[in-house]
Amino acid sequence: MFPRGREIILGISASISAYKSADLLRRLQDEGFLVTVVPTKSSLNFVGAATWEALSKRKVRTDLWQDVSEAAHTDLARDVSAIVVAPTTADLLAKLAAGICDDLLTNVIMAADCPKVLVPSMHPQMWQNLATVSNVKTLRERGFIVIDPDYGRMTGADIGIGRYPESAKIISTLNSTLERSADLIGKKILVSAGGTIEPIDPVRFIGNRSSGKQGFALAYAAAMRGADVHLVVAGELPDIEKKKLEGITISAISTAAEMAAVMRAEAPFSDAIFMSAAVADAKPAKSMGKKIKKDELRNIELNQNEDILQTLNQLRRDNGNTGQQIVGFAAETFDNDVDLAKSHQQDLINAGRKKLNQKGVDFIYVNDVSGGKVFGSDMTAGVLVCNDGEILEVNQTTKLQLSNLLLDKVSARFQPNQA
Ligand code: CTP
Repeated sequence: MFPRGREIILGISASISAYKSADLLRRLQDEGFLVTVVPTKSSLNFVGAATWEALSKRKVRTDLWQDVSEAAHTDLARDVSAIVVAPTTADLLAKLAAGICDDLLTNVIMAADCPKVLVPSMHPQMWQNLATVSNVKTLRERGFIVIDPDYGRMTGADIGIGRYPESAKIISTLNSTLERSADLIGKKILVSAGGTIEPIDPVRFIGNRSSGKQGFALAYAAAMRGADVHLVVAGELPDIEKKKLEGITISAISTAAEMAAVMRAEAPFSDAIFMSAAVADAKPAKSMGKKIKKDELRNIELNQNEDILQTLNQLRRDNGNTGQQIVGFAAETFDNDVDLAKSHQQDLINAGRKKLNQKGVDFIYVNDVSGGKVFGSDMTAGVLVCNDGEILEVNQTTKLQLSNLLLDKVSARFQPNQA
């Protein structure tokens, strides 16, 4: 099975061998990569944007000054697993070595914090030119992976080192670069996200505040590491997440009962479950087919919803699946007094321990949401309480980083024969 969600950027610079990247793109897709092509403007003299759009099935941007409000360079650079630039010209090597960013591709490369694989392709004399030799050395010292070109016939009659290598060689370099991060291949990860809603009548509902961002980040991080991910989302998946989560199985539900049904059905096949959804604790005893009058609201009778985490814990016991790891999340509130910050930390730990035991989960991540903190933010801070007694304090970090930390913790417990 292919690791899903391995988003990469394929940069194209202006070498006659740019046409060979059409094959590379297809082979990358065959390998399960999701590819966005960023060609330089000059490279379009060799292969046009229409070819890249048709093959990648994605919008192709070349201009830094187009759609400026979307900040294309940082938007494209964010959350990609790798950038491959094939072919890379001598000119582009020089720019990267000097830190020059004067077009979209150089800006994207500069802004990205991920492995970068360069595939130089040029005439042998340009490859052996001392300026190029020095630039390649500098780039390698800075962590760029530069694949040596192949030996052979050039476009003209010349023979030498400078040919664009076989797609297979580029992909195998990319795969070995990413191998470390794809440690969850063959694992099934089930994630719930968002806030369930319980209809009172056609216009009103009981709901919980939750942007879903932690769950989306978990799904994305697990997919980036090669897992087979099933994301159960309460509500609508925002457009920005849809692109990132392409290739992940997604079930869209609305109520706690619907979420419970999908989680119950999927749990037996999952190596780890992350219950990051905010589940409404109660639902109206009966939902009204037509809008009720406001003075009747106080008479609404509520029933408690099923505790999905407890059900999941029970299920794994029934199935004897003791290796399955279950992670819960808790949002707690405290008085907003700065002087109490220290004791809040202890309160968080205590709250976490209590819920960990109540729900029978392996880990619980507790955060302080007093005053609306965390909701909707890309950042989080809290405490991870583990059922072996370990307590891990998480200082302000991104939800994606927290996701990777949780995946590290969970995967360290997978049985060797599960690996
Ligand atoms: N949860 C669940 N089913 C529910 C309620 C909560 O599976 N009906 C899960 C949440 O997804 C979360 C964890 O339980 O992972 C803790 O949620 P929280 O709302 O903090 O716990 P509650 O049990 O509802 O406790 P409280 O009384 O503090 O609201």
